[in-house]
Amino acid sequence: MHVAIIMDGNGRWATQRGLPRTAGHRAGAQAVDRTVEAAARQGVDVLTLYAFSQANWQRPRGEVRALFGLFRRYLKEQTSRCLEQSIRLNIIGRRDRLDPRLISLIEAAEQATAHCTRMILRIAIDYSAQWSLMQVCRSFGLLVSTDHERFARQLAVVDNSLPVSQVDLLIRTGGEQRMSDFLLWECAYAELHFVSRAWPDFGEEDFQSALAEFSRRDRRYGRIEPTEPVRAQHA
Ligand code: FPP
Repeated sequence: MHVAIIMDGNGRWATQRGLPRTAGHRAGAQAVDRTVEAAARQGVDVLTLYAFSQANWQRPRGEVRALFGLFRRYLKEQTSRCLEQSIRLNIIGRRDRLDPRLISLIEAAEQATAHCTRMILRIAIDYSAQWSLMQVCRSFGLLVSTDHERFARQLAVVDNSLPVSQVDLLIRTGGEQRMSDFLLWECAYAELHFVSRAWPDFGEEDFQSALAEFSRRDRRYGRIEPTEPVRAQHA
C-alpha cells in the first residue's frame, strides 16, 4: 500500500489565525510527525509527502528559507525516531539546487535508515513530476522505450528514489482538487481523496477515514471485475 499526500493549506491555516505563513509550516511539520506515526501503525508500506515543489521556489525568500530550515531540522531530529520505528527515509526530487549541507543531512539520514523495513518514508523536495518525466525521456535519447518497467526504473534514478510500487491512494488536504505536478506517472491508477481540512489540522482520524474510504473503492483498472494493476498488454 503506497499512500501519497499533498500537504496543502498551511498558509491559509496561519493567516486565518493572524499568524505568519511560516507558523503554518511549523504546525504542518507537527502534522507530518503525527501522520508518519499513523501510517506506520496502519501498516502502510510507502508514504510519500509533497514538501516542496519546483514551483515553490517562486515564494518569498523568507518563506523558502523557513521551509528549508524545517527540512534540515526534520532530518536532524527525526532520523533517530525513524530508526527506532524502522522507517526508511528517502528524499526524492532534484538535488543539484539544494544546499550542500542539506544534501549531507539527506545522505546521512538515508544511509542510517537503509536497513529499516517497516515503512519507506519518501519526502519530495524540489520535485516536479513533469521535469522528472522529461529527464527520463532525455536519458533514453531518441529511442524512448515503451517498456513500462524500464521507464519506471529510470524515473526512480532521476528522482533519487528507491524502487517503490505505484501510488494506491493520493490524499490532498486544504480543499483544492488538483495534482500540482506531483507523481504524475506513479498516480496513473491512484484513488484520489480530497480533504477540506488544512494540513496542520490533519490527524490520525482523518488518515484512518481516508484508508477506510479507500478500502471501499472498487479498483478495476479498466476491466470489469476488481483486479490487480494491469501491465501493458497487446492484443
Ligand atoms: C502547502 O501549503 C505546503 C507547503 C508548500 C509546504 C509543506 C511543508 C510542511 C508540511 C512542513 C514541513 C515538512 C516537513 C517534511 C518537515 P501552502 O503554503 O501552499 O498553503 P496555502 O495553500 O494555504 O497557502
